[in-house]
Amino acid sequence: MSELSVEHLLGIKYLKPNDIDVIFKTADHFKEVINRPIKKVPSLRDITIANLFFENSTRTKLSFELAEKRLSADVINFSAGQSSVKKGETLIDTVNNILAMKVDIVVMRHGNVGAGVFLSKHVDAKIINAGDGTHEHPTQALLDSYSIREKLGTVKGKKIVIIGDILHSRVALSNIFALQLQGAQVKVCGPTTLIPKHIASLGVTVETNLKKALEWCDVANVLRVQHERMDIKYFPSTREYTQLYGINQEILDNLGKKLVIMHPGPINRGVEITSDVADSNDSIILNQVENGVAVRMAVIYLLAQQIKR
Ligand code: CP
Repeated sequence: MSELSVEHLLGIKYLKPNDIDVIFKTADHFKEVINRPIKKVPSLRDITIANLFFENSTRTKLSFELAEKRLSADVINFSAGQSSVKKGETLIDTVNNILAMKVDIVVMRHGNVGAGVFLSKHVDAKIINAGDGTHEHPTQALLDSYSIREKLGTVKGKKIVIIGDILHSRVALSNIFALQLQGAQVKVCGPTTLIPKHIASLGVTVETNLKKALEWCDVANVLRVQHERMDIKYFPSTREYTQLYGINQEILDNLGKKLVIMHPGPINRGVEITSDVADSNDSIILNQVENGVAVRMAVIYLLAQQIKR
C-alpha cells in the first residue's frame, strides 16, 4: 500500500505500521530532492496551506513552511498573538474564515489537547497536528524515528530511552507510539514526579536511575523541562535536576559504549544536556531538524493526494 490509512495527521496513535513505511519511503525521495541544487518540486502547485500557530514555535513552524514551499504550495501563516483571537473569536470561526479563502490543508499548533481532532470534525480541510498541548506532536515523532532509521539502519529492535519531563511532553507520547509501531523497545527516565502514573499501561518501562537507563539503551532522546506547563514545583531545583538527570560527556564516557543522542529542541544547554554532548559527533540533533523538512514534505504530499478536485 502506498497510501495513508488516515484522512488527517492528528496523532501517531491513529496510524498503522504501513503508514510509517509509506511516509518514510516518500521522505527518502524528498530528502534527495532537498539536497539537489534546485530544491523544489511542482507537486502541490494547486494546493493552499494555512499554518495556524496558537503556541510559540521555531523549528516546527519554519520546517512546515519550508516543506510547503519546497512542494510549491501556496502558504499563509497565522500567529495567534497578532490575530483577532485576542478579540474573542472562537477557534472554529477563525479557521472557517481562513478556509473561506480556499485553503486545502491546515497545519495547527494549539495549547489544548485534542484541538486538531476537534477541528477535523468541524471544518472541511485536511488537518495536520503540529502539537496539541501535552498530547501529541506526530511530525516530531516521525522525524525522530526517521533520524534513528537513518543513523542505525532500522528502528526495529532498538532500545530507546526518553529522558526528562515525560509528564508534560507531547514529543514523548508521540515517540512512544511511533517507536512501538516500528518494533522498538521504549523506556522512560526522569524524576518520579515527571513520569505519568499510568505510563506502564503503554508498554513502556520506567527507570529513575539515569546511569542504568543509559547502560540499557542504543538511543537517548533528551527532553527539556517544560517549566511553562508547570503550575507547581516538580523537583527541588534546576541544579538538582541537572545533577541527577543532566547528560554530560563524563557520564557518556563512563558507559564504555556509544549512544545516539537526540533532542527535539529547544535545548536548555547546561540543564538537561551539556553543550559538548549536544554538539558532539554522537548527537544527531541537527540531522533531526534537516529530516523534519523531508518528513513534513512527505506527510503534506500524501494527504494532498487525497484531495478531490
Ligand atoms: N521541537 C519543536 O516542536 O520545536 P518548536 O517548539 O520550536 O517548534
